[in-house]
This record gives sequence, structure tokens and C-alpha cells, in this order.
Amino acid sequence: MTAKESTFERETVLIFDTTLRDGEQSPGASMTVEEKLRVAEILEEMGVDVIEAGFPIASEGDFRAVHEIAKRVKRSVVCGLARATAADIDRAGEALRPAERGRIHTFIATSPLHMKYKLQMTPEEVLERVRDSVRRARRWTDDVEWSGEDASRSDRDFLCRCIETAIAAGATTVNIPDTVGYAHPEEFADLIRYIRDHVPNIDRAVISVHCHNDLGLAVANSLRAIEAGARQVECTVNGIGERAGNAALEEIVMAIRTRADLLPFRTNIDTTKIMAASRLVSAVTGFTVQPNKAIVGANAFAHESGIHQDGVLKHAQTYEIMRPEDVGLARSSLVLGKHSGRHAFRRKLEELGYHLGDNALEEAFRRFKDLADRKKQVYDEDIVALVDQEIQDLDQRVRLESLRVECGTECTPRAEVALAVDGAVRRAEATGDGPVDAAFRAIREAVPHEAELRLFQIHAITGGTDAQAAVTVRLARDHRVFHGHASDTDTIVAAAKAYLAALDRLLRAAERTREGGGSRELPPAV
Ligand code: KIV
Ligand code: ZN
Repeated sequence: MTAKESTFERETVLIFDTTLRDGEQSPGASMTVEEKLRVAEILEEMGVDVIEAGFPIASEGDFRAVHEIAKRVKRSVVCGLARATAADIDRAGEALRPAERGRIHTFIATSPLHMKYKLQMTPEEVLERVRDSVRRARRWTDDVEWSGEDASRSDRDFLCRCIETAIAAGATTVNIPDTVGYAHPEEFADLIRYIRDHVPNIDRAVISVHCHNDLGLAVANSLRAIEAGARQVECTVNGIGERAGNAALEEIVMAIRTRADLLPFRTNIDTTKIMAASRLVSAVTGFTVQPNKAIVGANAFAHESGIHQDGVLKHAQTYEIMRPEDVGLARSSLVLGKHSGRHAFRRKLEELGYHLGDNALEEAFRRFKDLADRKKQVYDEDIVALVDQEIQDLDQRVRLESLRVECGTECTPRAEVALAVDGAVRRAEATGDGPVDAAFRAIREAVPHEAELRLFQIHAITGGTDAQAAVTVRLARDHRVFHGHASDTDTIVAAAKAYLAALDRLLRAAERTREGGGSRELPPAV
């Protein structure tokens, strides 16, 4: 059988990406509307079937993000989340108005625990809500997804009645979430089979699964569910999401592709875009990817031991089950330095999975030259940090103009900063317990705010004393967390830039709230 024939026979598993909704619900992972648009763009390019763009009633920012993504995205279905209330559903419908293909995803909890304590509703009342919410969503669009929150801990027969009711009311996709990441792969597969056997109208809807990773089983549960009959998987880039996160898109897609011998399925994903999507999501959320993370971690294709290196050089498949180029990671052929030109730089960016427009490329090249003047060899990790920094800087309104620090054993640490705030320069100075503390205090003098520093983390991007420092800062205000990430060969400069990046997000959020946008805190109603 030829490869083409075997592909033809494979059933397609739809990829529903919820990076912009469930992923963004991770504390500190909030994205601006512009950042969400960038992520949506790469998800569409990658061939994601459904992009869950947000929860429109949650805040003005969420509404705007869904609305803008609905205007821009043409190939993927754009989806908005809604609880089982008329207000939520209508808000999602409004946000999705411009979409070429819009989906409303409405959910309600179906487990005894959630119904009794959270919803304070009887099962019969929940069933009524299922019917009414799906019917209401169908007034806006023919593409309606219904989810039974905490499905994996629900009474199976009650869950089946809810699913039957949702389909009868017009749901075209029914989603079975393992909301708290409690399920075991065999048990979850059995639940999907049970639903297929006990819901009389199940053939009129696509079965979807949505697995959380609290026990590290999200991908395993999703794969077993596919084998049991699910044909849509909900997942996120880098596996970000509530608590321990969601099933990782890249792991599901590459498992289906790599174990085609066992899994007779295919997806519509262009896997060569995986690295670029992973890096973008990491850059805009500030959630760095752990080095040993499957598929997208920095070490996923690195071979350290001599035996492994020798094997790979003789025949790549000795220790590689996937080709790096299949996930958008070209085998590195160039080391850059200060004599490297635009052409080599562009090629390196392409190898790393970045495809920048002319202006962005020019700016990145300028930053590269600047870095190469300070650092002998510019490694891949430096380039990644440099482009990520550029992505973050694009729409920052509070920027570092200059920083001067005095420190050492003989003096009190002191910092002077000049910041550009909406184009106007503000200067301040302060002393502190150390140079970083002094710099942060000076920033607080220049831009007074009440935020609390929750995290300050530094790591060296590469080896050597000329390595760039990568700094992550998290600031918290009113139960909301904002991250900032920056890198520089000067650790204190990197720290100040990371602090400003987090502060910029915080100030924008405060501004949106003042303008009447509200916050993401939802009323406790259904
Ligand atoms: O985890 C969950 O149950 C959810 C639903 C809204 C689908 O995210
Ligand atoms: Zn979820």
C-alpha cells in the first residue's frame, strides 16, 4: 500500500486548540489582544481546526480578542466559550459575529459534586439548562459545542442523558472533559465507549475530549479516547492551562504521526510549524518550556552522551524516533558571530522556525549586530531570546531608556533610571538592598504602583561569563498576576526590562478595568 493510500484511509482527528482560553487561564499567562492575534495567526497557519479564542463574557479584553480573531481568521473555526446562561451565550454570539465559521461552546457541570456545591442545582434543573443553552446558542450559529464539566466524575447515565439532550437541542459536538485530571486512560476510554453505546443520537455529533494533566495523564487519556471513538481533541500549545495544564497539542499530534503503525488516524496539522508556535506561546506568556519537555523542549533532540552522539551520526534513527525537521527544527548548520550578514541571519531564523516580515527582520538584525558586538559567539538560544524580546517589545508602552547602577562592597547600591512612558521621559533614582532592588525601587519611583513582586528568576541562556541573562518577573495586583521576561548580557538591565514588561501588562489591565472593561473575575453563577 502506498503512503498516499494509507493516509486516505486514516480517519481525521480534529484539533481544537484552547491555548487562548484554557491556556490563558493559567495564573500569569495573560496575553494582550495583539499577542492573542499573533498566536491565532500561527495556529491557523499550522492547520488547527478550531481555535477557542476566549471567554467573551469574562472581560472586555476577552470579548475584543474573540471579536478581532473572528474578523481575521478565515480557515479555522473560531470558537467562544459561554456558561449555560443567556447572557454568556449572547455575549459569545456577539463576539463571533464577524467570523466566517464561528462556534459557540457552552458548558455546565454534570458531576454530583459540582451540581450540589457549585451550582446548587438538581440534576433535572441542569438538564433543562443543557437544552435551553444549546437552543439559545443555535440561534446564533449552526456550530454548537456542548461540554459536561467534570464529566469524568459524573454519573454515566446522567451524563448520557445530558449528551442526548444537548444533541437533540442542536449540539454538533459533545465534549467530555476530564476537568480535574482524575481519569485513568482505560477508564476514560471506557467512558467514551459507554457514551457511544448508550446515547441513542450520538451519531449526529462529534465526540470531543478535553483532558487536564493533574496526574500527568492528559495526553495518554486523549489518545485512548481517540482509539475509543473521540474525533476531536482539545489541547494547548506547550500544554499550558489551568493548574497542571491541558493535553499538549504537539505531543498528541506527534504521537499520532509517529505511531501511525498503532494509531490509524491523521490530523490536519502542519507539524513543521510546531516549534514556531511553541516559541511564540512561550514568549507571549512568559512560561518557559522545561528543557526536557517532549517535542518542544530544548533537549528534546539533543544528544549528550558519546554513545548516543556516535549512534545518531551513523544513523539518526538509532536514537531519534522523530526527525527534528518534522517539528520545524532544522539541524543546526550555522554558528553566527559579528561578521555574519543578513542572509546568514535570515537563514538561521528560518532554521529556528521564525518567519519574520521585512521590518521585524531588520529590527532583529540590528539587535543581533548589537549583541554580536558584546558576545563572541551568538548561539541559537541567544537568537531565540533576541526574537522573543522583540516580540514582547513591539507594543510595550513603558520602556527602559537608560539605567545606571552603583554597587559593590564599598557603597550602598543605588540606581538611576530613565523610562519612556507613552513617549515622555521620566527619571528617578533610589537605593536598595542590592543593585536589582535599587533598580526596581527606582522604577517604582518613576511609575508609582502598588504591585507586589511574586517572582524574580534569572538563568544564563548559554555558558560563559559573556552569556545573556534571561530574567522572569511576576507582579501581582488584586489577585491577578502579570509576567515579564527579558534578556541581556547585563543581568541588571535584563532584570529592569523584565520588571517593566510585567508592569506594562499590569498598567494596561488596570486601564482596561478603569475604562469599564471589568476583570476576569466571573460572578459565581452557572
Ligand atoms: O476543563 C474543563 O472542564 C473546561 C470546560 C469549560 C470545557 O475547560
Ligand atoms: Zn479545561
